[in-house]
Amino acid sequence: MSVPTHLQIAIDGPAASGKTTVAHLLAQRLKILYLDTGAMYRTLAHLALQSGTDADNEDALVRLWEHAHVAIALDDAAPLGFRIAADGRELDEATLHSKQVTAIVSTIAAHPRVREAMVESQRRIAQDGPVVMAGRDIGTVVLPFAPVKIFLTASVNARVERRAAQLQAAGIDVSLHQLAREIEERDRLDRERAVSPLVAAPDAHVIDSSAVDAAAVVAEIETIARGARR
Ligand code: DC
Repeated sequence: MSVPTHLQIAIDGPAASGKTTVAHLLAQRLKILYLDTGAMYRTLAHLALQSGTDADNEDALVRLWEHAHVAIALDDAAPLGFRIAADGRELDEATLHSKQVTAIVSTIAAHPRVREAMVESQRRIAQDGPVVMAGRDIGTVVLPFAPVKIFLTASVNARVERRAAQLQAAGIDVSLHQLAREIEERDRLDRERAVSPLVAAPDAHVIDSSAVDAAAVVAEIETIARGARR
C-alpha cells in the first residue's frame, strides 16, 4: 500500500487494549513513523519519582518536563519502536512500565497543563511525516483531523492476560489479580478525568480485540486506511 504524505492514524483505547502492539506492527507494515504517547506520560512519571516531585503538583511537573531535555526519536530499530531519553539517558520498557511509574501515571496525566505540554510535543512530532500514534486522546485532541481513527477495546480479562505477558517478557513480576485492579482503576481515572477523558472520537472505528490477534486488527485497520484514501 503506498502511503500519502499526510497519513495519520490515531489509535486510542483503554490500558492494555493492544494499542501499542497494533500501532507498532501497522507502522512497520506501512513503513511510517510510530509513537506510543503513553511513554511520554510514563517518562514524566519516572522523572517525578526520581526527583521526589509530588504527582499532584502540576506546576512542578510542568517545570520538570520543560527542564528535563526529553528527546524522542522515532526509530523502528529500537526495542520499543522509538527511543525516549531524559537528560541524555535512554529509558527502557522495564523502567517505563515499573509498578511505581504505573501507580502514579494516571494522576500525572490528569493535569491540564501537563497535557498541554505533551500535546504540543506530539503535534510537533506528527509534522515529521506520516505517523501511527497510540494513546488516549489522539483522535479527539492531538490529531483531530487524522483521516483514520481507531478506538481499540478489549475485555478486562483479555487485557490482563496481554499486559501480564508483556510485563513478564520485560522481566517484571506480576499478580493477575493486582493487574486487573490496576487496569480497572487506571481506566476509571482516564475516563473520568475532566480534561481530555478517554472517549472514542465520534468518527472513530471501534474495534474489539478480545477474541482476535494483533495481526487481524492490523489487517482491519489497513482496510479502513485504504478506504479513507478514496
Ligand atoms: O498507554 P499507557 O498505559 O502507557 O498510558 C499511561 C498513562 O498515560 C495512562 O494512564 C493514560 C495516560 N495517557 C494519556 O492520558 N493520554 C495519552 N495520549 C497517552 C497516555
